[in-house]
Amino acid sequence: MGCCGTAVSPWRCAAQARGAVAQSGLSLDDIGGRMGLFKRRCRPEAGGENGTLIAIRDVVKTYRTPTGDFDALRGITLGFRRGEFVSVVGKSGSGKSTLLNMLTGIDRPTAGRVLVDGVDIHQMSESRMARWRGVHMGVVFQFYQLLPVLTLLENVLLPMDFCDVVPSGERRVRAVALLEQVGLGDAMDKLPASVSGGQQQSAAIARALANDPPILVADEPTGNLDSRSADVIFGIFDVLAAQGKTIVMVTHDDSLAARASHLVRLVDGEVAEDAALRAAVQPAAGAGRVLADRTAPALLRGSMVSSGPD
Ligand SMILES: Nc1ncnc2c1ncn2[C@@H]1O[C@H](COP(=O)(O)OP(=O)(O)OP(=O)(O)O)[C@@H](O)[C@H]1O
Ligand SMILES: [Mg+2]
Repeated sequence: MGCCGTAVSPWRCAAQARGAVAQSGLSLDDIGGRMGLFKRRCRPEAGGENGTLIAIRDVVKTYRTPTGDFDALRGITLGFRRGEFVSVVGKSGSGKSTLLNMLTGIDRPTAGRVLVDGVDIHQMSESRMARWRGVHMGVVFQFYQLLPVLTLLENVLLPMDFCDVVPSGERRVRAVALLEQVGLGDAMDKLPASVSGGQQQSAAIARALANDPPILVADEPTGNLDSRSADVIFGIFDVLAAQGKTIVMVTHDDSLAARASHLVRLVDGEVAEDAALRAAVQPAAGAGRVLADRTAPALLRGSMVSSGPD
């Protein structure tokens, strides 16, 4: 019997993952802080106005620099509905990453508001914001940011340990199902360094989905990938959007951006284009969240819709 209570396990369990974390010299809180995740029991709030999940209102971000103030965002107003796949494009320096930092709560606006599911996120304290983010948003970065000492499976298990939303007895089966969903069923015992960049990014997406957040935010997730791998990653986002996740993705790739359902173009910190490209999937009323589902097959059938009140 393994320490996860399973009779035969080709995978290491969460306790072993914690052992590997200890060897890395980082505490769970260190890593949780870096990932925007902190341990607690938490449930997403219900709400949102008129189907709008993310409302960005008159957001200004001014950086104070030695040479004077610099307005990176100059009054941004946008609304993203549930189930939309939003691409954010614009030249380098146009404010894309700054905008993502505002809507994830990683940084604070100088003025304006960001409401997510009806919650004014910048009214929260830093610690509450971090906890809130751990449940509501999965974040995917250009350079994956997987922990190198952990297998792909262990990387996906970690956020579940931090947030404690998924019952402990269900975490492993959920992590396995997520990795299978992103095409890593045969690679989950490997360390990040022994798989391709595209596979690492797929694992990072699985990790971002660990606590079943309704929103996935990605800053140039395909920026470090060859076009074929980029296509695979985009395809995963596409499926997730079709299943009801709201995706906000920054990209430099116009052809990928054009395949989203909503395109936002920033120019010098302002919205130059805000266009619906195709109808977004509307999650079914009362659709179940995957956390309420007890089995991996339920997840793979496409029950990953997390829109409704719990
Ligand atoms: N912490 C900061 N202090 C001062 N200026 C900053 C800071 N962060 C970003 N900027 C500036 O704000 C502007 C927008 O930066 P941002 O990183 O959002 O651009 P971006 O569109 O994501 O660019 P890229 O495509 O190169 O990633 C840039 O001119 C940048 O130099
Ligand atoms: Mg950027």
